[in-house]
Amino acid sequence: MKTLKIALSIIIYTMTQGVYAQNAADKKMNLFIDNLMRRMTLEEKIGQLNLDAGFGIAIDAPGQDIVGRIKLGLVGATGAGGFTFIKQMQDAAMQSRLKIPLLFGRDVIHGYATTFPIPLALSCTWDMSLIEQSARIAATEATAEGVSWTYSPMVDIARDPRWGRIAEGAGEDPWLGAQVAKAMIKGYQGDDLSKPNTLLACVKHFALYGAVEGGRDYNTTDMSRVVMYNDYLPPYKAASEAGAGSFMSSFNLIDRIPATANKWLLTDLLRNEWGFKGFVVTDYNSITEIENHGLGDLKEASAMALKAGTDMDMGAGGFINTLKQSVSEGKVTQKEINLACRRVLETKYKIGLFNDPYLRLDEKRLKTDLLTKENLNAARDIARHSLVLLKNDKNVLPLKKTGTIAVIGPLANTKGDLLGTWTSTRETGNVVSVLQGIKNVAGSAATVEYAKGAYVTEDDSLKKYMDGPLAVNETETETRSPDALLEEALQTAGNANVIVAVLGEVAGMSGEAGSRSLIDIPDSQRNLLKALVKTGKPVVLVLINGRPLALSQENEIATAMLEAWAPGVEGGNAIADVLFGDYNPSAKLTTSFPRNVGQIPIYYNHLNTGRPYVEGKERFVTSYIDVPNCPLFPFGYGLSYTKFEYSAITLNKKELKGDDILSASVTVTNTGKVAGEEVVQLYLNDPVASISRPVKELKGYQKILLQPGESKVVQFNISTELLKFYNSKLEYDWEPGEFNFFIGTSSAEVKAARFTWNK
Ligand code: NOJ
Repeated sequence: MKTLKIALSIIIYTMTQGVYAQNAADKKMNLFIDNLMRRMTLEEKIGQLNLDAGFGIAIDAPGQDIVGRIKLGLVGATGAGGFTFIKQMQDAAMQSRLKIPLLFGRDVIHGYATTFPIPLALSCTWDMSLIEQSARIAATEATAEGVSWTYSPMVDIARDPRWGRIAEGAGEDPWLGAQVAKAMIKGYQGDDLSKPNTLLACVKHFALYGAVEGGRDYNTTDMSRVVMYNDYLPPYKAASEAGAGSFMSSFNLIDRIPATANKWLLTDLLRNEWGFKGFVVTDYNSITEIENHGLGDLKEASAMALKAGTDMDMGAGGFINTLKQSVSEGKVTQKEINLACRRVLETKYKIGLFNDPYLRLDEKRLKTDLLTKENLNAARDIARHSLVLLKNDKNVLPLKKTGTIAVIGPLANTKGDLLGTWTSTRETGNVVSVLQGIKNVAGSAATVEYAKGAYVTEDDSLKKYMDGPLAVNETETETRSPDALLEEALQTAGNANVIVAVLGEVAGMSGEAGSRSLIDIPDSQRNLLKALVKTGKPVVLVLINGRPLALSQENEIATAMLEAWAPGVEGGNAIADVLFGDYNPSAKLTTSFPRNVGQIPIYYNHLNTGRPYVEGKERFVTSYIDVPNCPLFPFGYGLSYTKFEYSAITLNKKELKGDDILSASVTVTNTGKVAGEEVVQLYLNDPVASISRPVKELKGYQKILLQPGESKVVQFNISTELLKFYNSKLEYDWEPGEFNFFIGTSSAEVKAARFTWNK
C-alpha cells in the first residue's frame, strides 16, 4: 500500500511538473509573441496571413516580385520549391524589418524523394506502424530540403471512386480513417515539433470534400448534420485531437456556404467544439473562388473568410490586397487580424523557426538522408503490404521462378505511373518498373519476355489528360499501330507458360482534377486482356490505378488479379515479391469495388432500406434489376496464399450493464501451407436505436501472423465507448438494448453474435 502511495505521488508529481513546464513554455512563447506583435504594423500582420507563390514556382513570373514582398514583410509562407528557392526566400525574410521566418509548404502526400504507395494503398495495409513510418521518412527527407509544412494528411471519407482524389485518402470508413489520420500526424510531427526533422501537418480538406456530388472535383456537398458527425467528421476530429498543427479548408460548400467562409465549420466546430489550437489555411485560391460561388467579390470574400476563422490565404492574394481597407471601413477588426496573426506566429514559434530559420534546410542531410537504402527497403516492404490479392483461381499465384513469363501491357515498363498522384520530387530515376521487378526477383532460372501490347487508351478525350500536372506520366513515344502492338504481344505470349498483364490507369488519370465518369479499364487495354486470355494460358492481371475500378469483365476472364495501386518507387520489386510468393499478400480493401459505375455510391456501412435485400427473393427488395446488390469486392476484402478459418465467437457474457467490459474472441487458424498475416475485423450493429443505424460499422481489428497449422485466439475488449454515436440532437452517447456483433475476414464474411447492454 505504501509503495503504491509513493508510486502515485511520483506519477502526480511528474504530471504536475509536466503541466508547469508546459505553462512556463506557453508563457515564454506568449511573451515573445506579444513583444513581436507590438512592433508589427497592420500590413506586416496581414503579411503573416499571406501564403504567396503557392507552388514555389512564381519567383520568375513576370510582374512577380516575391523577394521584394518578402523583404517588405508582406509574406508569411510560400510553396517549397526546392533547396535554392527556399534558401533564397528565407534569406529575403531575414532582410525584412522584423526578420520573421517563412513557413515552406508542400504537398508531401506519400513520401518525398522516396515515394511510397499512394495513400489509398497505404490504408490497405491496415498497419498503423507502417503508415507512421512512411510519414516519418517523408518528414526526414522533406525537411532536409527545407520543407517545414506538408499539406497532408488528406482524411476525406470517400464513397465515390469516380472522384480522382479518392487516391489521396484512406477510403470509406470513418473509424479506420481516424486511425490512419493519427498515425500520419504522429509520423510527420513526431513528439517534438521543434526538431529539425519534423514536419508540420495540415489536415485536409476541411470538410466533407470527399462527398462532392457525383465525384466531380471541386464540386458541392450537401448532407445532414447526423451524417456529417457520424460518417464524415471522425477522421478530422481525431486529427485535431492528435495535435495536428494546421487544417486546410476545402473548396466545397457546406450548407451552401464555402468551407473557407464557414464560421460554423471553422470556429464553432473546429475551435470551440473540438478545441483545435493551430491555424487554418485555405485551399489554393479558394478565397477568389468564393466569388464564383456567388457570395461576394474578393474583398467581401476575404473579410468573410477571416471572420469565419481562416488564418492564412493560400494563393488568392485576397488578404494581402484587401484586408487593410476592410479594417479602415470597419468591416474587419484589428482584433480579428491579431488573432489570426498570433496563430501563425505561434506555429512558427513551436516549430522552432524563431530559434533557427534555417533549421530545416540542411545541405549535409540533403546528401545523406534521401533515398537511402533503409528508406528504399521500407518503401518496398510497405508497398508489399499494400497490394490486395483480388482473385487467385487454381492457385496460379504464387508463380514459379522457372519457365517463361510474358510480361505484357502498357503499364508494365513505365516508371512515373508507379508513383501515382502528387510525386514530390518528380524523380523517376530510381523507380523500379514492374518488368524490372519481375526480372530482379525471378532470378536466372526464369525467362522474362516483354511486349507493350496496347496503348493506355485510344480515346482522344482521355488522352489529353494523361500528362497530369501533379504526376509524372511517361511520354508516349510509341509509333506502331495498335494492331502491330497486339501482334507482338500475342507472339510473346505464345512462348510463355504464364502471362502477367499489367494494365490500368496512368498517374494523371486519378488524383486532383482526375475524376472519371466511367471507371473501367480503357477499351484498348481491355481488348488486349481478352486477346491474351484467348491464348488459353493463365493470365495474371496486375492492376496499376489510383481508384477502385469496375472490374466485372476482368474478373470473369483473368485467372488471378492483384490490385497494386500506384505502389511507389519500389513498386516493381514489391509486386514481384508478391507474384512469386516471397511475400504472402495480406492487404485488405478500404473501399468497396463496384461492379459497374451505376452502383455508385456503394459502401459497406450503409443503412437498411425498409425492404432489406434478401438473396433468392430479389423482387421488390433489390436495388437494381440489372446488377447484383453487393459490390464486386467488399470493404475489408483481400486474399492470401493461405486460408484462415474462424471459429464461432465466444463472449464472456451476453448481458451487460453500465461500465462492464465485453470480451469477444475467435480462434483463427491458418489451415494452409504457408505463413500468412490476417486482418481480423470487428464490426458492430445497433439494430434498434433512436435513429437508423448502419448495417455494420468497423470498430476494431487486429493483424496477426500465423504459421501453417497455427491457431491464435484473437480477443477484443469492448466498452460502451464503442457503442456511441451522434443522435439526432448530435449528442454523442450509446443507447441500451440489443447489439449484433461480427468478427471476420472482410465486411461480407463474418461470424456473428448478439448481446444486450443496459444502462
Ligand atoms: C489544391 C489541392 O486541393 C490541395 O489538396 C493542395 O494541398 C493545394 N492545391 C496545394 O497544392
